[in-house]
Amino acid sequence: MKKRTFIKTAALSGIGASIGMDALAALFDSKKNVSAEILAADDVFWKKIRSQYLLKTDYINFENGYYNIIPQPTLEKYIQHIRDINLHGAYYMRTVQAENKNRMAAKLAEVAGCGSDELVITRNATEALDIIIAGQDWKAGDEAVMAIQDYGSMLDMFQQVANRYGVVLKKVSVPNHPKSDEEIVSLYENALTPKTKLMMVSHMINITGHILPIKKICAMAHRKGVKVLVDGAHAFAHIQYKIKDLDCDYYGTSLHKWMSVPLGSGFLYVKKENVATVWPLIGDGNGDLSNILRLNHTGTHPPATDLAIEDAIDFYNTMGAEKKEARMRYLQQYWTSRVKDLPNIMINTPTENNRSCGIANVGIKGITPSALEKRLLKEHKIYTVAIDYANVQGCRITPNVFTSIEDLDVFVGALKIMATA
Ligand SMILES: Cc1ncc(COP(=O)(O)O)c(C=O)c1O
Repeated sequence: MKKRTFIKTAALSGIGASIGMDALAALFDSKKNVSAEILAADDVFWKKIRSQYLLKTDYINFENGYYNIIPQPTLEKYIQHIRDINLHGAYYMRTVQAENKNRMAAKLAEVAGCGSDELVITRNATEALDIIIAGQDWKAGDEAVMAIQDYGSMLDMFQQVANRYGVVLKKVSVPNHPKSDEEIVSLYENALTPKTKLMMVSHMINITGHILPIKKICAMAHRKGVKVLVDGAHAFAHIQYKIKDLDCDYYGTSLHKWMSVPLGSGFLYVKKENVATVWPLIGDGNGDLSNILRLNHTGTHPPATDLAIEDAIDFYNTMGAEKKEARMRYLQQYWTSRVKDLPNIMINTPTENNRSCGIANVGIKGITPSALEKRLLKEHKIYTVAIDYANVQGCRITPNVFTSIEDLDVFVGALKIMATA
């Protein structure tokens, strides 16, 4: 980047602190005795974290749920990986590519809390989850359970197996404001029959940010002999958990969301005992059914993305999972608590600590979600996404660790104007 361009953009982003992993480590080290909850509210501190990102100043980005902008230290390392691989060409691909990818998978397994022989890197969450949905030994009359609030691509894959094999789909609807975990567990339990072969559950529903009680749902399903696939696209590196503790059978996630890996990265976890029974989406010559790598064939893909996983994990670990989660929840509760009692405002997300974190959805009675999205951008320079299906009518609001309180105050002010006009 040209020095002049950098200085201009940096000034616009309010950069004062140094950029880089050492600077980040020093920042968090200076707060090591401060609790995650107290630090979450320290906006002066988080402004220094913001300086690790290069951000547009034309609008406030509340659509980090699609793709988390990569912080500068990760971006620089990613660009260096692209240069290095290009220098070596096929030599890289034929010698260390696979070994490096497996090393990245092992690092991810450590963060995710599972065996390194139970996790493969995929190109995104869709690929991870679709491997499991398409890869079951489906028979006509088998049943599968999912929710209408689940992500569209997975619902499409379930529909494809229904059309192809005669699988019967049972869809539940998750309430936006459940009274208890048991209400959610019963909802899924009531959809199960002796014919149910697979149940998919979102760890964090993408349109609302609602966190579901996965551990309790898995325990219930296992009592009935049903395998559980968890869609963790929004949960991984956003909230803290270990996959082993959830005790699910399969877990798929994106890494370009909350882990802030460059675009085109995800992983699939398959509990060891299930590996041999899954059909791969892309054929692979590995004859050992118990080796999860046979689910990992992709053809040629950009390996620099794989290498950046390690850099993104370093950034995440330096920040600390607990501090990140606390900041994300603080940001969400900051704005929801200021608007929830305004006339016409509908918060479509449960805001209790155990049921949501950084993401929440808001609607305004009398304004369609798409009109709300457009007006937020045009009148207030706030970028969001409209959601208008299932029981959710509103805009999804996804801040990031770099979101400032000033950004949220602009949003709260905008909602006040629109809700009371
Ligand atoms: C809940 C959920 N599942 C799956 C996906 C698909 O993720 P990807 O784009 O990484 O395939 C998304 C993407 O937003 C999502 O929100």
